[in-house]
Amino acid sequence: MVDFLLEKGFTQLSVLDISSGALQRAKHRIGVRSDEVCWIESDVLAFNPSEGYKLWHDRAAFHFLTDPQEVHRYVQLATKAILPGGYLLIATFSKKGPLRCSGIDITQYDERELSLLFETDFELVRSSYIDHTTPFGTMQNFLFCIFMKKIAA
Ligand SMILES: C[S@@+](CC[C@H](N)C(=O)[O-])C[C@H]1O[C@@H](n2cnc3c(N)ncnc32)[C@H](O)[C@@H]1O
Repeated sequence: MVDFLLEKGFTQLSVLDISSGALQRAKHRIGVRSDEVCWIESDVLAFNPSEGYKLWHDRAAFHFLTDPQEVHRYVQLATKAILPGGYLLIATFSKKGPLRCSGIDITQYDERELSLLFETDFELVRSSYIDHTTPFGTMQNFLFCIFMKKIAA
């Protein structure tokens, strides 16, 4: 994703992951242009954003939160971090997807459940279900939802 955004000319990009290994691999893949990205090694729940974001993109990280209190904390964090009129794109395993990822339990969602979590401050713009073929040749059904942060009256 970040490679693509750099290629398309987007700036002020940040990548957050709890895994230093994941960040190192992505930096290595991107090469010299990795200096243009802000790399944040953190549990997303411990992240304390100091700036507002126009787009927050989460593919297959949110669904690792299985405790309702953690989910609530994430919703609060995304609400604080995303600018009014900005977008939140979340991709999770759907109800037809796997129950675990990398051996770790996940939470499956459908469009209604995901929308309910964010409905106070976000409007659903679009959603779709997509069959993703993994590098190992297996199929995972994903739900993608794009929300817009409401602009306060
Ligand atoms: C299935 S991978 C998806 C990676 C990437 N978003 C993509 O689409 O290719 C899930 C990633 O979420 C990260 N992750 C899981 N729980 C996290 C958390 N609480 N905070 C930050 N990152 C987390 C993992 O380290 C892993 O890199």
